[in-house]
Amino acid sequence: MSEITRRAVLRGAAGLAGVAALGGLASCSRSTETAVGPAADAVAAAEAARRKPGGRLVTARLTPQPVTLDLGGRAVSTWAYGDTAPGPLLRVDAGDVLRVDVDNQLSAATSVHWHGLALRNDMDGVPGMTQDPIAAGGTFRYEFTAPHPGTYFYHPHSGVQLDRGLYGVLVVDDPHEPGRYDAEWIVVLDDWVDGTGRTPDQILADLQEGGDDSMGDMHDMGGMEGMDHGSMGGSMGGMHGIEGMQSPLLGGAGDIAYPHYLLNGRTTEDPVTLSAKPGQRVRIRFVNAGSDTAFRVAVGGHRMTVTHSDGFPVLPVPTDALLIGMGERFDATITIGEGVYPLVATAEGKQGQALAVIRTGAGRPPTGDVKVRELARQVLLGTVLSAAESVRLDPRSADRSHDLVLGGSMAPYRWTINGKTFPDTDPLQLTQGERVRLRFVNHSMMFHPMHVHGHTFALTNSGARKDTVIVRPMATLDVDLDADNPGQWATHCHNIYHAETGMMTTLSYQGQE
Ligand code: C2O
Ligand code: CU
Repeated sequence: MSEITRRAVLRGAAGLAGVAALGGLASCSRSTETAVGPAADAVAAAEAARRKPGGRLVTARLTPQPVTLDLGGRAVSTWAYGDTAPGPLLRVDAGDVLRVDVDNQLSAATSVHWHGLALRNDMDGVPGMTQDPIAAGGTFRYEFTAPHPGTYFYHPHSGVQLDRGLYGVLVVDDPHEPGRYDAEWIVVLDDWVDGTGRTPDQILADLQEGGDDSMGDMHDMGGMEGMDHGSMGGSMGGMHGIEGMQSPLLGGAGDIAYPHYLLNGRTTEDPVTLSAKPGQRVRIRFVNAGSDTAFRVAVGGHRMTVTHSDGFPVLPVPTDALLIGMGERFDATITIGEGVYPLVATAEGKQGQALAVIRTGAGRPPTGDVKVRELARQVLLGTVLSAAESVRLDPRSADRSHDLVLGGSMAPYRWTINGKTFPDTDPLQLTQGERVRLRFVNHSMMFHPMHVHGHTFALTNSGARKDTVIVRPMATLDVDLDADNPGQWATHCHNIYHAETGMMTTLSYQGQE
């Protein structure tokens, strides 16, 4: 990502620090609106307003480093936060200040983004937009107030590093939580390739080279025909929309057929066990940390009730199964029976699944290829949820709106917003205090989980609050947000390969300096 980062930094400098120089040169710029940068007074003021008397300071340390991980019968060398993937669970109460010291032991520059949090802009972790990259061997201290309770996660915002083992969960507890559950399981889903013969960076390069001979051993795996068993597929000439990796719910469901799908860092060969007592009500916090895979999840013999989407409460909805796009989180409750049950996450539109074993009593464990009937019954998407009354946006008409036309192609491999690739995309300008409508218009045959940093928007049709939402092929989806968190905010597809090849822009607060 070095070239993109460098250009973005330069552009950021021209847009932020360069303002004063321009003002000096052109006296007419007095009334000109300029970008509110991460170091602006408005950012500090918004943070001050978030601090609550009595909030604690919670400290943690993250060490991105090269590591050998056991995925369950398979050792891979990769990068992770510490010795595990997912990395350490971070947990604070809403209103607490979280201070995380990052010690970058990688050979590459990195960053940490706090996905879903409406935090101070200068701590958002986007190199070239909110901070300089953390150099190899370098350190950085993140420190911010965690404003809203919910299930969040953290990951690098540097290249395709997220597709290695660099991710972990951040839970923000509600000190006033009514506590309508007895136990909690955190379920992190991931699509895995690193250390199995190619790295995410090589996959990205192969996608960008698009089917010429430099794709090397892809041909050995049978090229397009190798989709089902190779480590990649669909990267040649836009074939993804025609064969393989199709989902009735999502259309084109991905660009990469991964060799493994993980639940809490484990393959189906040696899955994690989740325990509780029979009859207990369990809150499951689902996080999709995958880079190119949506997961369909269900628990054998049970229905679940979805209670939260992307951290925010919804009107509870019972369902058999749940579809989770990359970057989305859902909380669901389940009343668990006595015995042994599979929790299965299938890779939507792909071959393969991830598994956890729920054990509350005696019984034989499921096999790795266990089929769960609930997966083929009622499948819920985040777009059908409605907001809980407490988190509905006030009714108000939009002060301005922006269209984001989502497009792209497989050859050349590039993904666009309004026809342009980041950092050449046009920023989406807004002013603090406005109600802003974003209209996602998908002109491609793939789904895109669109993510906005620093805000939890509301779906206009249901009010549900989300920060990441699946936009289906050829569909249009409107969301509203209140411009209450000044700064420069990345807005992008959470397919990390789409984001990295262009499908990203900036939600750019403007103000007078
Ligand atoms: Cu998890 Cu820019 O996002
Ligand atoms: Cu996308």
